[in-house]
Amino acid sequence: MDQTLRSDSRAADDRLAPLYAEHAAILTARFEDALEAAGLDGVCIFSGRELTVARDDSTYPFKAEPYFKAWVPLTRAPGSVIAFRPGERPSLIYLQPEDFWHAPPADPAGFWVEHFDVTLARSEQDVRRALTALDGRLGAIGDPAGAADLFASVDDRALLNPLDFARARKSAYEVECLAGASAMAARGHLAAAQAFLGGATEFELHQHFCTAAGQRESELPYNAIVALDRHAAVLHYQHLAMEPPERGASFLIDAGTQKSGYASDVTRTWSRHAGEFRDLIASMESLQQTICGEVRGGVDFVALNERAHELLAGVLAEHGIVKCGAAEAHARGLTRVFLPHGLGHLLGLQVHDAGGRQAEPAGGERPAPPEHPYLRLTRTLETDFVVTIEPGLYFIPSLLRTMAAPDRAGVDWDAVERLLPYGGIRIEDDVVVQAGGCRNLTREAFATA
Ligand code: GLY
Ligand code: MN
Ligand code: MN
Repeated sequence: MDQTLRSDSRAADDRLAPLYAEHAAILTARFEDALEAAGLDGVCIFSGRELTVARDDSTYPFKAEPYFKAWVPLTRAPGSVIAFRPGERPSLIYLQPEDFWHAPPADPAGFWVEHFDVTLARSEQDVRRALTALDGRLGAIGDPAGAADLFASVDDRALLNPLDFARARKSAYEVECLAGASAMAARGHLAAAQAFLGGATEFELHQHFCTAAGQRESELPYNAIVALDRHAAVLHYQHLAMEPPERGASFLIDAGTQKSGYASDVTRTWSRHAGEFRDLIASMESLQQTICGEVRGGVDFVALNERAHELLAGVLAEHGIVKCGAAEAHARGLTRVFLPHGLGHLLGLQVHDAGGRQAEPAGGERPAPPEHPYLRLTRTLETDFVVTIEPGLYFIPSLLRTMAAPDRAGVDWDAVERLLPYGGIRIEDDVVVQAGGCRNLTREAFATA
């Protein structure tokens, strides 16, 4: 990490410190309510295990349990456990094994430590001994590995549902983490955009992103989508081509980072040349900003998703991609083949945060509308929700090929043929819902990067 990144990271921790006590109080209240609903005396939250490849001794990247990260900003502490019981200080059983093959997790340090009773464990047996000493009817969250027998339940929905529902609303501490994650991502995006102009391969673009963002690949909250040309039409394109692209005319990068366990999820699309595709990006940028301008508490996200399709119909008509007017294109559902994913989702401890379609604290589902089956967020927005706003416009051969005949007649296929080589466009920001609008963490980050 270079000097600037290190001091930025220290400054971000300084901003988190005074916010943690309120965050812990919010978590305490939520966990007390959830435990009561589940009829439990307490809960142990397991950070998770390092999983090894079958018949091998190498490990998959470690991904910490989200509720563990909610309590402590530790993303590299496998085998540790938080024990919470109403009315008591939470405790952290911290696994720090003696191991000459691997570096053990660092000593617990930072603003959060004073809020916990910390017990150091030198082995998994030590962890088990500490868990055995806890009494009462306890639930477990996460992977209890060999300790499941000590618990009345593991990942009980009666416990998780109220927690998942409540976590859509972020504390000031969480918003600061998310802002920090957007700041890291913005640095990565700017470096990647610069490298795109220099003719980098997808593999090199990804490296530029990680280096400038200050995060190794295995720590990113999701596999970055680094797509040149037609690859941008693959919504979750997973490869990193090492060969120079034939054209290198367009570049879609959907890449985020983690700050203290909280994710950013950011997409930008670039065009090398002026012309039809760059104009289309400008129209999508303006559509995305219009939608961001309509985000506020009380807005139904299903309706906002439909509003994005209404605006997209306008873009398709304006650019001659459909032959009819915008209103007719929207009414006929012609936009759906060009935007098959949802407008956005909850963001936080996970990139697609839990509870997006949950009907109420106890559970239930408000399903996505049948015409937009991939919409991940169907709730009414409330103040302090953090969501992504990520409209897109893609030229996806398999979807275009299978369009029904009456819909095909509405499309200008010459325009589609011209645009297919560019793949598609997505523009994605992370926003905090406010009563009368939203705070755009991603735009703030790009403005100061
Ligand atoms: N990066 C995945 C998504 O935007 O939802
Ligand atoms: Mn997203
Ligand atoms: Mn994304």
